[in-house]
Amino acid sequence: MMTQPGRLIGLGVGPGDPELITVKALRLLRESPVVAYFVAKGKKGNAFGIIEAHLQAEQTQMPLVYPVTTEVLPEPLSYEQVISDFYDQAAVEVAVHLDAGRDVAVICEGDPFFYGSYMYLHDRLAQRFEAQVVPGVCSMLGGASVLGVPLVYRNQSLSVLSGVLPHDELKSRLAVADAAVIMKLGRNFHKVREVLGELGLAERALYVERATMSNQKIVPLNEVEPMSSPYFSLIIVPGERWQG
Ligand SMILES: C[S@@+](CC[C@H](N)C(=O)[O-])C[C@H]1O[C@@H](n2cnc3c(N)ncnc32)[C@H](O)[C@@H]1O
Repeated sequence: MMTQPGRLIGLGVGPGDPELITVKALRLLRESPVVAYFVAKGKKGNAFGIIEAHLQAEQTQMPLVYPVTTEVLPEPLSYEQVISDFYDQAAVEVAVHLDAGRDVAVICEGDPFFYGSYMYLHDRLAQRFEAQVVPGVCSMLGGASVLGVPLVYRNQSLSVLSGVLPHDELKSRLAVADAAVIMKLGRNFHKVREVLGELGLAERALYVERATMSNQKIVPLNEVEPMSSPYFSLIIVPGERWQG
């Protein structure tokens, strides 16, 4: 008899506070024989830390360890090629479980389809296997809640921008935004703050590190030490308050 293949499950586990995981994600996590997660070498992983307490001894843990921690690699290596090969290999390893009939839950900090590494497995495997994605509370919403700031009023539009954008492009996009969230700060922080200053938005912008996590830090934008801004931080430029 043919084995029914397992399901690929992209499981959003929320921005950090373990209580911000959904009931559905928790059920599927507990039911999954294999729990996979992306992680940097030598680290435990944020997503793993969020759900660790729910794992049972009989579940197989499958860390997918990134081969590099920086996008700048010495020639002739190219980050895009190295990371693409890594996702290819991770997909092969996950597929072994799926072919054997085991569901694989790929846990993802925040939401899987919002800058989540799960997407690269989904792109490679969702044609071959049944894939189910469970949305999670994403970091910008966790951030807005702990900063206590409404994001957008009435007919305002929200721009989600990557701090990796070059100075001028970031500036032109921010200049026309009603409200904005800037992700991926870290070593981009200095440039982002400079752009906000040039546009007169620095007073309105709010900064949070590790929103909703136990080590969350909210710091006034002008007091952030650029070299110490972690990867898990974001800036919110809220929409102008509507006096409804
Ligand atoms: C690869 S993206 C992952 C986004 C995630 N999938 C989500 O739904 O929010 C990583 C970026 O998300 C932001 N981020 C993720 N979690 C965060 C948190 N708890 N607090 C602040 N920023 C966070 C940071 O800007 C970080 O550079």
